[in-house]
Amino acid sequence: MPDEIDYPPLTLPEPPLGDEGFFLRPPSMSDVEIVYRLCQDPSISRFTTIPHPYERVHAIEYVERAAADWDSGMGASFVIVSNSNEVIGTISVFRTANSGTAEIGYWVAADARGQGIASRAVRLVSRWSIQTMNLARLQLGTNRENFASQRVAEKAGFKYEGLLRNWREIRGERVDEVHFSLIPSDLE
Ligand SMILES: CC(C)(COP(=O)(O)OP(=O)(O)OC[C@H]1O[C@@H](n2cnc3c(N)ncnc32)[C@H](O)[C@@H]1OP(=O)(O)O)[C@@H](O)C(=O)NCCC(=O)NCCS
Repeated sequence: MPDEIDYPPLTLPEPPLGDEGFFLRPPSMSDVEIVYRLCQDPSISRFTTIPHPYERVHAIEYVERAAADWDSGMGASFVIVSNSNEVIGTISVFRTANSGTAEIGYWVAADARGQGIASRAVRLVSRWSIQTMNLARLQLGTNRENFASQRVAEKAGFKYEGLLRNWREIRGERVDEVHFSLIPSDLE
């Protein structure tokens, strides 16, 4: 992490980010149970860096880390909330060790998939974070077999960059990732 740089705290988007069928807000302790339950889904642990097995303490740590990241300016984490006020996913942007860059990650509950929620949430958060966090580059990496997420990246306007072999360790194994990025000039 670029700990030599002091970032200002991040302020919440006003009005809150959202689109038809959902809105985004920071996670709170009242979300621990639903996040814990939804993160039992094997497709989420297969394709993201969430701990496996996923315990309640991990959901608590997620909420605490989100609050700390908002305060330190290191990242912005949101839960995706349906119009009926149910948490149906998460989306987060974290600064990386390479100054001026950040990475975006997300998951959507199995029941809520296929409605354009991830791609619209990624579109909203990526544009907001590039401006608010003054990013030169926002990157998005997907497991090479995660075709739904690669489609999300394309639909959200990210540009394909390539296949990075053995890029990340997930559940104890190195995995190849297909990487995309969004930079400020893509938004002009
Ligand atoms: C990836 C994920 C976030 C997508 O969420 P979602 O809300 O269903 O995404 P969207 O509806 O915005 O878009 C999904 C797109 O992928 C397509 N898709 C779904 N499964 C697919 C597959 N197996 N192969 C190719 N495309 C696929 C859908 O048809 C849709 O594209 P379309 O609108 O052109 O038809 C969700 O499946 C998920 O949470 N998966 C587990 C965790 C994960 O992979 N997170 C991302 C880590 S990088």
